[in-house]
Amino acid sequence: MSEMQDLLKESGYSEKAIEYYLNKVNVGELSESDAHAIYTGPCGDTMEIFLNVEDGVIKEAKFQAIGCAGAFSSGSALTERIIGMTLEEAEQIDEDKIIGYLGGIPNQKVHCTCLSKRTLQKAITDYKERKN
Ligand code: FES
Repeated sequence: MSEMQDLLKESGYSEKAIEYYLNKVNVGELSESDAHAIYTGPCGDTMEIFLNVEDGVIKEAKFQAIGCAGAFSSGSALTERIIGMTLEEAEQIDEDKIIGYLGGIPNQKVHCTCLSKRTLQKAITDYKERKN
């Protein structure tokens, strides 16, 4: 185990959350997307989410962040899980669900899941506005 993994584990990240963070799952951009949003949370960290949607179902999801390990692991877990979901299902995901996807995150990092939740909700709103 690397020093980084040890540090993350000691601070309360689960193995799964550490893997998401180290493997940078779904970190990137979609050059053409059906939905896009940028959101800065109260902590000052920023996330950007891109979605491609077909018949109301999320087909692709990528994100970028200027943020902490909590932001990156949450973004990875969330974008991985929403692929294959309808927009309505994805819209219902709350912080507890994201913590469940991660399998554990330090208490002081729980708010980081809110950054990914809010950014996703903004991206879904963007999709709906584009369709109107
Ligand atoms: Fe801001 Fe983690 S401290 S998202």
